[in-house]
Amino acid sequence: MKILKTMLGLGAAFAVTLSSAAAFAAGYPERTITMVVPFAAGGPTDTVARLVAESMSKDLGQQIVVENVGGAGGTLGAGRVASAPADGYTVLLHHIGMSTSATLYRKLAYDTLNAFEYVGLVTDVPMTIVARKDLEPTDLKGLIDYMKANKDTVTVANAGIGAASHLCGMLLMSAIDTPLVTVPYKGTGPAMTDLLGGQVDIMCDQTTNTTKQIQGGTIKAYAVTSPARLDVLPDVPTAAEGGLADFQVGIWHGIYAPKGTPSEAVERLSKSLQVALKDENIVARFAELGTAPSPEADATPAALKAKLESEIARWKPVIEAAGQFAD
Ligand code: MLT
Repeated sequence: MKILKTMLGLGAAFAVTLSSAAAFAAGYPERTITMVVPFAAGGPTDTVARLVAESMSKDLGQQIVVENVGGAGGTLGAGRVASAPADGYTVLLHHIGMSTSATLYRKLAYDTLNAFEYVGLVTDVPMTIVARKDLEPTDLKGLIDYMKANKDTVTVANAGIGAASHLCGMLLMSAIDTPLVTVPYKGTGPAMTDLLGGQVDIMCDQTTNTTKQIQGGTIKAYAVTSPARLDVLPDVPTAAEGGLADFQVGIWHGIYAPKGTPSEAVERLSKSLQVALKDENIVARFAELGTAPSPEADATPAALKAKLESEIARWKPVIEAAGQFAD
């Protein structure tokens, strides 16, 4: 009799759990979602986030508000989400910096592989090596010679240790075996302002932030870091054409939620991301900015988890060999 009572009690509890999960799924989302961008407004991460948030909002029927939390190469914004309520109403859109920061920052406020749920991959953006428009060199080889000859004065902007621009700058300095003066910003949006004004010399930044400026002639482009030239920047050679044979850097982006976010919310967000990445406006806007949406199969929790794990493993030895850490 006692076993029967226990079984009936467990069954009732299970039924309540099922019904509450079903109720949550049926009602989610019922209010505004915050999408944290771990860099200042106006930069490439912000650009990608606002385009995706607008499209996902339509599918979800709820507003997604972008909140910029810049600083420490994206780790402050990631930490904000790691400690946010796991209720499905706070997400993070971040990029390759999620993987490099796991090694660069030895005292991170969160455990990268255990503090988040995974929604899916968004896009993989090429980078460009750009400079203020009056910098003398006319090609990448000339820029390399210039950087070597002026290593104590040439300034390279980035968005802080752990940012994609920091990673690309680190790889560039390693490729030319020349340390340069780096100038950190809270994002490459504000860094671009100083590049346009001539207050900083060089930057390695994503096409989502540089394409329009290059096309408008307001900054000088020396190379793209993609395997082949880009349709939107046909006159900009690849780094390989310019003599940096293995210099290929792609900045993948993903959407995360705090660990413990209900699976119904994660699945709904992933489905909405997949819809957004097929939105013809997203496809067109991404193409104008030199990138493309991730394939549908990659806009999934499993694909993002696998990507983050493999990228942490890829960059850990590279960063440890360079011996440059943030803390
Ligand atoms: C980066 O360098 O990681 C990004 O370009 C920063 C940003 O999106 O502002």
